Amino acid sequence: MNKTYHIITFGCQMNERDSETLAGFLEEMGYTYTEDPKTADAVIINTCSVRENADKKFFGVLGQLKNPHEQRPGMMVCVCGCMMQQQRIIDTLKAKYSWVDLVFGTHNMSEFPRLFQNASEQKAHLVDVWQDGKALAEGLPARRAYSYKAFVNIMQGCNNFCSYCIVPYTRGRERSRHPEAILNEIRRLAAEGCKEIMLLGQNVNSYGRAGQIEGGYCFEKDEPHWDFAGLLRAIDQIEGIERVRFMTSHPKDLSDDLIACFGDLKHLCRQIHLPVQAGSSKVLKEMNRVYDRQQYLERVRALRAACPSIAISTDIIVGFPGETEEDFEETLSLVEEVRYDSAFTFIYSVREGTPAAAREDQVPEEVKHRRFNRLLETMHRIQEEKSLQYQDTVQRILIEGFSKTDDTMLTGHTESGRVVDLPGDPSLIGQMVDVKIVKAQTFSLYGKLLG
Ligand code: SAH
Ligand code: SF4
Ligand code: F3S
Repeated sequence: MNKTYHIITFGCQMNERDSETLAGFLEEMGYTYTEDPKTADAVIINTCSVRENADKKFFGVLGQLKNPHEQRPGMMVCVCGCMMQQQRIIDTLKAKYSWVDLVFGTHNMSEFPRLFQNASEQKAHLVDVWQDGKALAEGLPARRAYSYKAFVNIMQGCNNFCSYCIVPYTRGRERSRHPEAILNEIRRLAAEGCKEIMLLGQNVNSYGRAGQIEGGYCFEKDEPHWDFAGLLRAIDQIEGIERVRFMTSHPKDLSDDLIACFGDLKHLCRQIHLPVQAGSSKVLKEMNRVYDRQQYLERVRALRAACPSIAISTDIIVGFPGETEEDFEETLSLVEEVRYDSAFTFIYSVREGTPAAAREDQVPEEVKHRRFNRLLETMHRIQEEKSLQYQDTVQRILIEGFSKTDDTMLTGHTESGRVVDLPGDPSLIGQMVDVKIVKAQTFSLYGKLLG
């Protein structure tokens, strides 16, 4: 009988993309996908460590697999991803979850088939985590979640060391893929019918800049001499790709040339995710973000001057150590000033090993929660006002599947990244269509097909 697998993915799009590769490996080994992890022959949990909640969720999910694993000899439970790059997690796994078959990290994912084989033959706990990556692996298989939209990784790692963030420790130093490898992947996707590409990196704006790292592309020494804007221009020429998006952009590296792309390029969506994190220059400095409030606002003005219709979204952290009431008010006033289309808001979470975690002036939990709720109120008001502006407009959307809230409806995204639900024939899935917005609410838009 065919063996089955299931993958549980936490965290960001990078992890989702990595899970597509792991699924590709398993399918090459003859495994088929199954919905239920408890009856699968192989389960992988791909973990995230960005906030404490993510850690907790992982141990909850892992615990639920203990009984099925005991009862079904031969079942393989594997854990990987960002949490595994931390010694304290490996120690906990060894002490309390020694039944787990395979533990690997973010830097040796391309070794998965060999690791999996070894673990299943040895029938013993196999832990293999590398401290940093070697050259980027190319040509790995993938089982993509969709055929008409795809994530394309353009780089790995992060060099920024924001003082609150664990990612540089879990993903290692920044390395860029060679432009030809990226373009070939996108050409192949286009030939298979893919219409929308999301380029991924922790800081795509510094694509090709970290040239000192062995195995990475550097636009100053390698051919062709493209930075991120150059790469976008080349991608814009690929036949069949109708939409290009990217995330995430670090404001400090948002060049004028990249901003000009929003005015010039045909397929680049007029939408940018530009995490601000905080509105106070003092807090930004302590976060090691390398821009201040004025510089951030100047970049927003430049974006809107180049492309007045651009939709801007952001990430914000509330309750960073030492954040005063006045600092927080500055975050609120910045949100009012920029009027974001949407925002991911987070309560600061202590990440062991980062500089901010060692600070003694942590903000009390109840203060963090109070500020968080105030921020949400402000964001919701702005989002509602923005949302109502869609009423009666015509939007071009890519139909991506069935609505999450009503499976008799289709769903897709506007160029700005808003979800639109609409009635229509399932044969439209994968098509670009024009839709009139007939009902606009704070978090949802409803449309009607035109033509
Ligand atoms: N590389 C991306 C973000 C990756 S993490 C960037 O710099 O924009 C996604 C978001 O998680 C961050 O933007 C930040 O807002 C949030 N985040 C990271 N570390 C956090 C922490 N310790 N506590 C709360 N939120 C955090
Ligand atoms: Fe974390 Fe900052 Fe790197 Fe983003 S840029 S991944 S927030 S260290
Ligand atoms: Fe989480 Fe790792 Fe992404 S910590 S946010 S899965 S890079």
